[in-house]
Amino acid sequence: MHHVLRSTQYAIRHMHIIETIADFRRVRPQFGSLGLVPTMGYLHAGHLSLVQRAKAECGAAAVSIFVNPTQFAPHEDFNRYPRDMERDLGLLREIGTDLVFTPPMSEIYPPGFSTYVEVEGVTDTLEGAARPGHFRGVATVVCKLFTITQPTRAYFGQKDAQQCVVVKKMVRDLNLPLDVIICPTVREPDGLAMSSRNAYLTPEQRRAAPVLHRALSAAQQRYESGERNGDTLRATMQTVLHAEALAETQYVSAADPLTLRELDSVGTGGVLFSMAVRIGNTRLIDNLLIEGE
Ligand code: PAJ
Repeated sequence: MHHVLRSTQYAIRHMHIIETIADFRRVRPQFGSLGLVPTMGYLHAGHLSLVQRAKAECGAAAVSIFVNPTQFAPHEDFNRYPRDMERDLGLLREIGTDLVFTPPMSEIYPPGFSTYVEVEGVTDTLEGAARPGHFRGVATVVCKLFTITQPTRAYFGQKDAQQCVVVKKMVRDLNLPLDVIICPTVREPDGLAMSSRNAYLTPEQRRAAPVLHRALSAAQQRYESGERNGDTLRATMQTVLHAEALAETQYVSAADPLTLRELDSVGTGGVLFSMAVRIGNTRLIDNLLIEGE
């Protein structure tokens, strides 16, 4: 028994837990190709699927855990955002993560910090319109994480569809030397997209939450049976959401997947169905991408 335990321990690779930029820069040369998964922690199977993909495609996988204050508006949930570093580190160790970057606030935003990355155009609509300044915070911290960790590839989830578009555009516009890889949304068995914020839901609200996925599936069905009118597809989603008393729609959208502008009718460019819905005090987002031809 003792022997089995020992050999298991030897099989587990060492996981570097790094808190400072200087330390990260020191160990980075030990690794060749590096896949980075930026996160705000409170990890779930969606996050872990990105790490698995990074491990499969790169020599080493790095995960950053940093709840980024600049992407939260003053009235939003920065202070109560769920955090559990010990649990996160356990999950990452279990799946064989090579590097975890867990910087304190002062490392990312030292006193006097005043430089921000603004991605124009694709941030005007949807989440960008509902959460002014949100993507300025996201682009800034992601840009910093890229320059600190120097990944070969960076992995993002389709769950945050507009974030994917914004990060890809930033990487192209600023000539950042890495590939952005988008991974599918991981869902609970009832369709609810996994999210750290699902932890806010009461049992009753949790039972109502799959309505987002049902609304997206209804729009997809209408699309597959030939419907191409934007208003009709948006109304289809709104009707499903409206039938759930606990759901309060913030927006429903049938937009161009590249420009994120609402479509009058869906053409060869495909369509991104997306929505933001409040259930109690919790704001949930979800989307479904129908790719262009
Ligand atoms: P966070 O919400 O922690 O998400 C980290 C990454 O996991 C993002 O790329 C997100 O799209 C992905 N993700 C979340 N839920 C998922 C799911 N159900 N299936 C697949 N992927 C999922 O997104 C952020 O953090 C932050 O904005 C960040 C990019 C880290 C910048 O602060």
